[in-house]
Amino acid sequence: MKLKEFRLDFEAMLSDVVYGHGFLHYGYWPEGRPETPSAQALGAAQQAWFDRLAAEIPEGVESILDVGSGTGANALALGRLGYRLECLSPSQQLNAMARAKLPEAVRVHDAGFEDFDVPRRFDLCLFGESFHYIRQGPALAQIDRYALKGAIIFDYFRRPGAADIGEDAGRRQTHAAFLEELTRHPGWRIAHDEDVTAAILPTFFVLDHIKNAHIAPFLTRFRAEFRRARPISGRLVEWVFGRRLDRFMRPSRREETFAQEYEYRLIRLERVA
Ligand SMILES: C[S@@+](CC[C@H](N)C(=O)[O-])C[C@H]1O[C@@H](n2cnc3c(N)ncnc32)[C@H](O)[C@@H]1O
Repeated sequence: MKLKEFRLDFEAMLSDVVYGHGFLHYGYWPEGRPETPSAQALGAAQQAWFDRLAAEIPEGVESILDVGSGTGANALALGRLGYRLECLSPSQQLNAMARAKLPEAVRVHDAGFEDFDVPRRFDLCLFGESFHYIRQGPALAQIDRYALKGAIIFDYFRRPGAADIGEDAGRRQTHAAFLEELTRHPGWRIAHDEDVTAAILPTFFVLDHIKNAHIAPFLTRFRAEFRRARPISGRLVEWVFGRRLDRFMRPSRREETFAQEYEYRLIRLERVA
């Protein structure tokens, strides 16, 4: 299992346990930073993200293909709004959580979008923070194939000049590359394209705060106490994990680094008649 997949599974478990909803996306904060940077505020902002997404779904849409459906939390909430859902994700672990949560009638496919193959089409293809996992050419070809009316992408794009490396090479593309790729798919027009980065950034302000102001000082006290109470095991733990813990405990600046590297956008594509 790749580190990124493990992190998603872990975040899914946390999201279910801490917030009770299982959303795997960032928060949406149109009013800016919260007064109290807490996990509770983050849970409410993830709900606001969902509400913004749902508000973007055009009239007349009945069936939705939820691409990268995570724990099924978006699909569950969309089903409650009256939409007919079908879900897909390559993560068997997340799909097991989704199947446990969703009504039996909702199919959940163990598949990446690139290889997804069913003899049906859907009014809308939905990408909730999942588009950046998929290469843009194949993703748009599959949208051509499956979406009857439209597609919504609520996700981040790499800023021009930010590094495109490692296992994500070719996936986290720039917005300009997306627009260029779209010109090769003339069946679509952009009905909405909004830069919402500023409304997403408080997510990192809250996460940085929770880590820097609470978790790191707690770990520092815990390590010192553990070394004092159990000198031999304490030295062993420090020898094995010390460097990694030190790295983890360095102050996070994700609010700043995310803004430098990514822009977060809400895009709606509409099929040209
Ligand atoms: C950050 S999570 C977002 C989950 C959910 N949409 C949400 O808003 O909470 C990204 C999702 O994309 C899925 N994913 C990763 N690679 C994919 C691919 N090639 N095709 C479709 N989904 C993919 C992951 O398994 C996960 O379910």
